[in-house]
Parts: sequence; C-alpha cells; structure tokens
Amino acid sequence: MEGVPIRNARRGDIPSLLLLWNAMMKEISATDSRFALHARAQEHQTAQFQRWLQDEKHLIVVAEEGGRLITGFAIASVTAGNGWQIPVRVGRISDIYVAAPRRRQGVARRLTGRLLDLLYETGVGTVRLSVAVGNDGAHAFWRSMGWDDLEVVLQKGVEPGQETAPGA
Ligand SMILES: CC(C)(COP(=O)(O)OP(=O)(O)OC[C@H]1O[C@@H](n2cnc3c(N)ncnc32)[C@H](O)[C@@H]1OP(=O)(O)O)[C@@H](O)C(=O)NCCC(=O)NCCS
Repeated sequence: MEGVPIRNARRGDIPSLLLLWNAMMKEISATDSRFALHARAQEHQTAQFQRWLQDEKHLIVVAEEGGRLITGFAIASVTAGNGWQIPVRVGRISDIYVAAPRRRQGVARRLTGRLLDLLYETGVGTVRLSVAVGNDGAHAFWRSMGWDDLEVVLQKGVEPGQETAPGA
C-alpha cells in the first residue's frame, strides 16, 4: 500500500506546522519540564518557520493526507562541520512529529527518508540529531531506523534568575 504523500512545506502550511509543533513541544515537555516553552515561544516559532521556508539550508517536509490535512512534519538543516573532523557539512534533523492518531503507520519513516534524500542531494554525507533522554518512543523509532548513539548532552542549572526568556 502507498503511504501518505510527503512534500516540501510551503508558506500556507505555517498554521498547521505551528499546531503540530505545539503538540510536539507539549508532548516532549511532559517527559521533562526542562523542555517547557517560554511565554513568547509561539511568536518566535512563527517567525522561525517564515525564515526557514525561505532559507535553502533549512528543509521542511510534511505528510499530507487527502491533499489538505497535514499529519506530520520533519525539519533538517545543513550546517558546517567543525573543521577538524571529516564531515565538511553535517545535516541536522531538529524536529519530527506525527499526529498521535496517525502513528505506527510508517509516516515518520517516510518523512525521514525524504529528508535524507534532500540532504544527500545537497552533498551532505553525515546526519545527526538529538533525542531527549526520557523520550522512549523516539529512541525506539531512531534505533529501528538504524541510528546509533554518538554523544550525550549534559546540563546543569545556573543560579535562578540569571536567565530570562527573550523579550522578558
Ligand atoms: C517518534 C515518532 C515521530 C514516530 O512516528 P511514527 O510515524 O509513529 O513512526 P513510524 O510508524 O514510521 O515507525 C517506524 C518504526 O519505528 C519504531 N517505532 C516508532 N514508534 C515507536 C514507539 N513508540 N515504540 C517502539 N517502537 C517505535 C517501530 O519499529 C516502527 O515500525 P513498526 O510500527 O512497523 O513496528 C512519533 O511517535 C512522534 O511524533 N512522537 C512525538 C514527537 C517526538 O518524540 N519526536 C521525536 C523527537 S527526536
């Protein structure tokens, strides 16, 4: 059976992308409150989607059902390598989300496949991503797709009150 069509995102998709992005952030912050959004996150992310859709280094793909309903999205960017290791350019997948009722139907697999094709077309040979430690479903997904551990990100809180949300 053919899967749901995957296509590049366009400007008109921004409202749907924001809805799905919010649902994703809600789900991820439920696993760890350190991923909670600040009060102006919507505004920031709307501007970010507008910028990314005009920037050839950012790739956004969507799964579209019935020619009108966006049920998933994924985002990658092309970044420079660190200059002293072999990858000259590194693709980074920053987001992937599939609406809960559409999961386990291969949508994320197809979104990832499309992003990897687009990244390879730009000459990228290495792709990296981060997964929250407590996000067991995402870990299972990436492992099933053949991704390996590379490094662990550590975090330590700074003194309360030293950091404020943008625009606060
Ligand atoms: C992770 C996520 C994108 C997977 O989307 P999906 O469309 O359900 O994934 P697929 O159907 O393409 O799954 C492909 C394979 O990955 C594995 N997999 C996916 N989700 C899994 C889960 N929750 N538990 C165990 N294995 C899982 C399975 O092997 C699956 O194949 P199968 O269904 O034939 O067994 C989705 O659960 C999601 O949006 N989660 C919330 C957001 C999120 O965590 N994003 C990732 C941030 S790094």
